[in-house]
Amino acid sequence: MVIKRVLVAGGAGFIGTNFVRWTRQHFPHVYITVLDSFTYAGQGKNFYEDGWIDAADNSAACEVVRGDVCDTAIVDTLVSQADVIINFAAESHNDVSLHAPRTVVETNTLGVCVLLEAVRAHNKRLVQVSTDEVFGDLSFTQPAFTAESPYRPSSPYSASKASADLLLGAWVRSFGLDGVISVSTNNYGPFQHPEKFIPRQITELLSGRPARLYGSGRHVRDWIHVDDHCAALWKILMYGKPGQRYLVGAHNEISNYDVVQGLLTIFGLPKDSYIHVADRAGHDIRYALDSSRTRDELGWQPQHLDFMSELETVVGWYDAHRSWWAKAKESSEKLYQKTGQ
Ligand code: NAD
Ligand code: DAU
Repeated sequence: MVIKRVLVAGGAGFIGTNFVRWTRQHFPHVYITVLDSFTYAGQGKNFYEDGWIDAADNSAACEVVRGDVCDTAIVDTLVSQADVIINFAAESHNDVSLHAPRTVVETNTLGVCVLLEAVRAHNKRLVQVSTDEVFGDLSFTQPAFTAESPYRPSSPYSASKASADLLLGAWVRSFGLDGVISVSTNNYGPFQHPEKFIPRQITELLSGRPARLYGSGRHVRDWIHVDDHCAALWKILMYGKPGQRYLVGAHNEISNYDVVQGLLTIFGLPKDSYIHVADRAGHDIRYALDSSRTRDELGWQPQHLDFMSELETVVGWYDAHRSWWAKAKESSEKLYQKTGQ
């Protein structure tokens, strides 16, 4: 499929920003429209920092539109102008979803319904960016989830994402919509909000404070570099089959405790420079995806396989971009103080 114009909903957040930058680097001929409502998680300066979008004349390769995915009129207009649509727009933090579930459901589920209707009206292609959390969690001994695993979400966030996937499936079956779902594991890389695990630990350590583990710290996540996720998303945009779920993971399962120990080694700090804090309600113990079918069918492979060395690069990025995260961190830490985390 030839793609000349892509609409990136939620493109000013962590993965969206990296996706836009990855696209600029690999497919500079593609015109990108970012639709983002700039919640606390979105930052316009992500795009302007390198000067590749000229604020005075952003006609060259990209435009940024401030708007809500739940706004039918804006979404309809932007969808009509694009060849393909990729949706990152979401309230993406589990902890936030436990305290303010309504906005989470509105954006993550209703927003997708609005997108689906516009995509149907204009006969376009949609890739919905979903999450391994829709499957719920695994014990330490269960095999990784596959595309056929049943949905058993645990949190308001993961339930809202699962609902969106089910809506997309219904639109494919009932209306023949050209919609595909990508299901990824935990991403890491630059531009991730300091409320999230890896940036939070890095910014705590950079601020001279200990790392913070929820509960026992034995919880396991399957970490993938955000650039590997972006490469997979482009494969899915171009070659994904309608109605399919593509699992995207790096087969890189690590406990939170071991991630913290890796960071302490990078920082040259003693092994006990961390504290245990209040656990998350309903905290999923382990996620893991079997992405072999995506690899075989789409010819995609993760490239960033040396987790420790990639982590060191990410630490360097946060060290060099303190003004990018300082304010956001101040507000997220205020919330964490209230919950004892
Ligand atoms: P993020 O919170 O960093 O970014 C979300 C973006 O969506 C922000 O720019 C925000 O301003 C925007 N947004 C929020 N509500 C909106 C609305 N109503 N209208 C328009 N824009 C809105 O999230 P992220 O980590 O980049 O995740 C992006 C997507 O990928 C999400 O859908 C998430 O569920 C999914 N995902 C994330 C991960 C991960 O590890 N971060 C893994 C798998 C899937
Ligand atoms: O699995 C994909 C999901 O990954 C995405 O769908 C979500 O959008 C994304 O936020 C992420 O969800 P998690 O809940 O796994 O990520 P988070 O960064 O919030 O936490 C990762 C793990 O670290 C989890 O076990 C909770 C723990 N944690 C988190 C924080 C913020 C800590 O131990 N200490 C912390 O300070």
